[in-house]
Amino acid sequence: MSKESENCELGIFGGGYVGLVAAAGFASVGHRVVVFEVSDEKLQLLNAGKVPFFEPGLEELVKNGISQKLLSFEKATLDRLQEHLPRLQGLLLAVGTPSLPDGRTDLSYLDSVIDLLLKVPQSLEGKILVSKSTVPVGTGERISKRMIEGGKPVAVASNPEFLRQGNAVYDFLKPERIVIGTENVEATEWLRKLYAPLVANGAPLIEMNLRSAELLKYAANAFLATKISFINEISQLCERVGADIQQIHRGLATDSRIGSKFLNAGVGFGGSCFPKDLSSLIHQGEAFSLAMSLTKSTQEVNRRQRLWAFERLQKVWNNDFRGKTIALWGLTFKPNTDDMREAPALSLISRLIETEASIKAYDPQGMGEASRLLKDPLKRGHLQLMKSPQEAVEGADALIILTEWAEFEKMNLSDIKVLMRSPLILDGRNVFSSQQPLKNSEIQYYGVGLPSASA
Ligand SMILES: NC(=O)c1ccc[n+]([C@@H]2O[C@H](COP(=O)([O-])OP(=O)(O)OC[C@H]3O[C@@H](n4cnc5c(N)ncnc54)[C@H](O)[C@@H]3O)[C@@H](O)[C@H]2O)c1
Repeated sequence: MSKESENCELGIFGGGYVGLVAAAGFASVGHRVVVFEVSDEKLQLLNAGKVPFFEPGLEELVKNGISQKLLSFEKATLDRLQEHLPRLQGLLLAVGTPSLPDGRTDLSYLDSVIDLLLKVPQSLEGKILVSKSTVPVGTGERISKRMIEGGKPVAVASNPEFLRQGNAVYDFLKPERIVIGTENVEATEWLRKLYAPLVANGAPLIEMNLRSAELLKYAANAFLATKISFINEISQLCERVGADIQQIHRGLATDSRIGSKFLNAGVGFGGSCFPKDLSSLIHQGEAFSLAMSLTKSTQEVNRRQRLWAFERLQKVWNNDFRGKTIALWGLTFKPNTDDMREAPALSLISRLIETEASIKAYDPQGMGEASRLLKDPLKRGHLQLMKSPQEAVEGADALIILTEWAEFEKMNLSDIKVLMRSPLILDGRNVFSSQQPLKNSEIQYYGVGLPSASA
């Protein structure tokens, strides 16, 4: 921490992916942070220095924060909050903002924090209330209004989070940009102080108004999702015309205006952010009579792309799945996380269990989540969770790869082939597309947008 930096005292509501990474990250640069969480189960783990989910490097940061007495965890109740409140300058909101069934944003978790703050007997004057949660445009103003009406005016700001799960610790400490969105001078000054250690390490800080910061987060996610759906749509055309998406990728990526990231064809995007943020953006546009056609198309292409492997199997097996065993490698929405929220694997599994095939799945980190989310197919025997990638492919008629875990990339396909009943591989992330043994082997191999998958 630089000499000029001052330590801040803050409370963070929500000890999930964003709240916990931010809390441990701020503690690591010298700030004192208390996390308010509702889940007793999570609190029990956190107080023992354990992280309730898989995120590389996070547990070490949490343990360090606890041992330096800069990081603590409390139940999000009125008495716990009241006890800490006098010394807290900033209150950060990092609770979930999932989709409602109609696609709009569910702000009930956020509202419950505001309800709690309104119950506090003391004044909140001088406190800064900051949303790190992704919220629809206008939410900050709505919070401010509620606080004023409840007799507890506070300065409100938006500070959207751009970390990537799986790289979250690095992204938090070395962000490509920090965004502060507020018209309030005290909030700006406090947030500048909070981020001073990261800015001193080279992170650019961008200041803007509250509404722009709220919208920026949706714009960033919608743009990235659109890049993915774009390349996936081109990959569909590749399969029809006999072109190669990886050659096209090389040609596109060398154009600095386009770039290489988020431009790999695959079985579509998932996760806790892109799907819900696209739906929310569409609703936000429609509330102002704007059709948001591009965002809708991005969603539509993604819905179809998630079933790429299923449609391929329908063709290869002539729609006859009877007696077939299908191995799945990868259940999480991307590697280096245990998060299965909106994972393409969930769409594929729910389609496959409508057939008479049985599924054997393996994921390096997602097995706990899978047993929680897929109770029904597990109970009915449609799905089995296996202990290793080899166990999953044993006796299988097809192997589908859904997540590009490094563990899978290292596999030798000749070894896999001998374990399978019939060596059919549908590589939904093109992890094996350049493996030499494929060329002359008896493996029937299909990658996304590759000539082998041509109609
Ligand atoms: N996960 C990501 O990669 C990511 C990245 C950027 C932004 N975001 C945004 O950050 C927000 C949080 O996402 P997340 O993935 O960390 O969610 P999460 O579900 O992992 O964590 C939310 C936490 O808030 C807790 N909580 C709920 N109500 C509470 C209350 N009243 N008081 C205290 N705690 C409460 C929950 O128990 C949970 O632990 C969302 O708006 C999301 O869109 C997420």
